[in-house]
Amino acid sequence: MDIKKLVKPNIRSLKAYKAKEIPCRVKLDANESPYGFTILKDIKTNRYPDPEALELRKLVAKSWKVKYGNTLHGNGSDELIYYLINTFGGPVLYPVPTFSMYGIISQALNTKKIEVPLDENFDLDLKEMLKVIKAKKPKLTFLASPNNPTGNAFSVERIEKIIKASKGIVVVDEAYQDYSAKKSFLTLFNKYRNLVTLRTLSKIGLAGLRTGFMIADEEVVNEVNKVRLPFNINSLSQKAAVDGLLKKKEMSASIRSIVSERKLLFKEMRKMDGICPHPADANFILFKADNSDKIYKGLLKKKILIRDMSGAVKDCLRVTVGTPTENSAFLKALKQLL
Ligand SMILES: Cc1ncc(COP(=O)(O)O)c(C=O)c1O
Repeated sequence: MDIKKLVKPNIRSLKAYKAKEIPCRVKLDANESPYGFTILKDIKTNRYPDPEALELRKLVAKSWKVKYGNTLHGNGSDELIYYLINTFGGPVLYPVPTFSMYGIISQALNTKKIEVPLDENFDLDLKEMLKVIKAKKPKLTFLASPNNPTGNAFSVERIEKIIKASKGIVVVDEAYQDYSAKKSFLTLFNKYRNLVTLRTLSKIGLAGLRTGFMIADEEVVNEVNKVRLPFNINSLSQKAAVDGLLKKKEMSASIRSIVSERKLLFKEMRKMDGICPHPADANFILFKADNSDKIYKGLLKKKILIRDMSGAVKDCLRVTVGTPTENSAFLKALKQLL
């Protein structure tokens, strides 16, 4: 039996998101925080989790100064991207290169996607985006700011112009906002009803819990909530996320350390011949390297894992900011290879 023939054509030609464990000593490939927390409380494993994630959502709402009704929880923000595309459909517009899941999920849901290249500074090509918005009327536009894999935040004015010009929903994905000094769009749904902001706990030390949120107008939240699976965040994750978020001091300290280490990494990498790091507002740095393939493989031989991004941005690699020790090991190995 040819199983492939049973699969819908859009899924047949879809390539799965590449995520596998590669053994290494220094792990700087996945934009996680190197700092975790010891958290676990008594959990009743015989009971279903709270479908509304009440305690967690209340805490998130309080700390982000929005109302509970303006929040919705996802099993990572990945799941919310899925729900958003399922709810509003396409065309789905996004700049490229960007986070690959916007395209993968659109295709999985058989939804038309429109990709517009970023400009030469990896900022939004406003003219082209506005042209597409006017001509194609996308139902959804995804703007990851700070953007992955380029690392920079987009111009706030350009994002705002896109929101104003759009008749559809505009999603500002702020997965890396904790590492950025640029303005957040978190509470602007009060001004723009078509604005959804995505946040995740994955980049600030809680990636293993798979917990993300969308913040939006209550009506938008209610519509997306219709397609949410009832128990999408398990009890352990809900409890641990609450505990993690309450460790405010530790969390802020780890964010500060990563930002200052990023500056240091950037400074050191800029001094190296054959390496060109791109300015970063996230917890990672995209850099161009002569012989990027050799550098990636050379680092891996030394058990240092970073991410090969040459498929998305020519000759580019992406390194996540680690602990000071991990970053020194990376810099030392990179210097040796050069
Ligand atoms: C821009 C962006 N959005 C969303 C995500 C997904 O995060 P989560 O772990 O919450 O699913 C990532 C993860 O790499 C990302 O880079």
